[in-house]
Amino acid sequence: MRSFVTGKSRLLLQRLLLLSSSPVVGGCTARASRQCRCFSAAPGDYSNLQVEVRGNVGLVAIHRPAALNALNDETTAELLDALQRYDRDSTIGAIVLTGTDRAFAAGADIKEMANRSFSQARRRDAGSFMDLFFALRSPTIAAVRGYALGGGCELALACDIVYAAEDAQFGLPEVQIGTIPGWGGTQRLVRAIGKARAMEMILSGRRISSREAEAWGLVAAVHPEDKLLTAALDTATKIASLSQPIVQMAKAAVNAAYEMPLRSGVLYERALFQSTFATQDQKEGMTAFLDKREPKWTNA
Ligand SMILES: *[C@@H]1O[C@H](CO)[C@@H](O)[C@H](O)[C@H]1NC(C)=O
Repeated sequence: MRSFVTGKSRLLLQRLLLLSSSPVVGGCTARASRQCRCFSAAPGDYSNLQVEVRGNVGLVAIHRPAALNALNDETTAELLDALQRYDRDSTIGAIVLTGTDRAFAAGADIKEMANRSFSQARRRDAGSFMDLFFALRSPTIAAVRGYALGGGCELALACDIVYAAEDAQFGLPEVQIGTIPGWGGTQRLVRAIGKARAMEMILSGRRISSREAEAWGLVAAVHPEDKLLTAALDTATKIASLSQPIVQMAKAAVNAAYEMPLRSGVLYERALFQSTFATQDQKEGMTAFLDKREPKWTNA
C-alpha cells in the first residue's frame, strides 16, 4: 500500500489509470518555446514532476501516476526545488500546483514510512517541508483533480487558493493507519472549515466531495474537470499581471490572519499597508487610476 487509496477503490483507480494515463500538464516542447521557458535543469531532471512556464505563471504538476502521486521523499524534494526556483524567478508572478487526472496527491508514501522509528521520524522532520512551502512569497493556486488525501490534502490546504474539479475528494484519513496528520492538517483544516467539521473528518477519516469542500470554504471554486486547469491558469495570470511586491504583501497580510492574534495581525497589516507607500508601484497604481489609464507595474 503506497497511499490512502486502498482495496476496491484502489483497484478501480488502477483500472482507470490504465484507461486514461495522460497527464494534466505536458512537459516543455520546442513548439511551445515562446510560451514556455524551461529551466536549465528542468523538466527533464525531475522524475516525479512536470514543470513549465506559461506566460508569467509557473506550472508544476506532480506526476507519479502509478502511485497516485503519493508524496515520497524524492517527490517532496523535487517539489520544493521547482517551487523555490519559480519563487526566485522575477519573471514569475504566480504558481499553479496540480496533479494528474486521478489524483492531486493521494497521501504520503506509506511504504517509505511504515517502519520508521521515532528517532528517525524526528531526525528527518518531514513536516519542515511544509514550513518551506508556506514560506513561498509567490501566490500559489492548487488545481485539484481526484484524490487530495493525507499529505496531498495538507499540501492543498497550504496553497493560497484551492480550485477543485467536480471529481475531487479531500480527506485526512491518517487515523485509519495508526497515525495523525503531520503536515499541518489538524491546524489548517480547523482554520479552513471550523472545529466541528474538521474533528469529524480527522477523527473518522471521512472524505468530502468537492461540493462539500466548496460549501465549507476549503476550496474557492469547483470547476468541470476539463475547465479546471484553465481556470487556475486564468486566475494565476491575472495575479501575475499585477505588481509582485504588492501582491506578495497582500499574501503575507492574509497569512498573518492564520498565525497571529487579531490585534497583532491588524498591526502587521497596517505596517505592510504603510510600506506600500515606499514602492513605485503604489505611486504608479494610484496615478494611473486617477488618470483613467492602465498602470505599468515595474515591481519596484
Ligand atoms: C516492516 O518490518 C517488518 C518486520 O521486520 C516487516 O515484516 C515488514 O515487511 C516491514 N514493512 C515494510 C513496509 O518495510
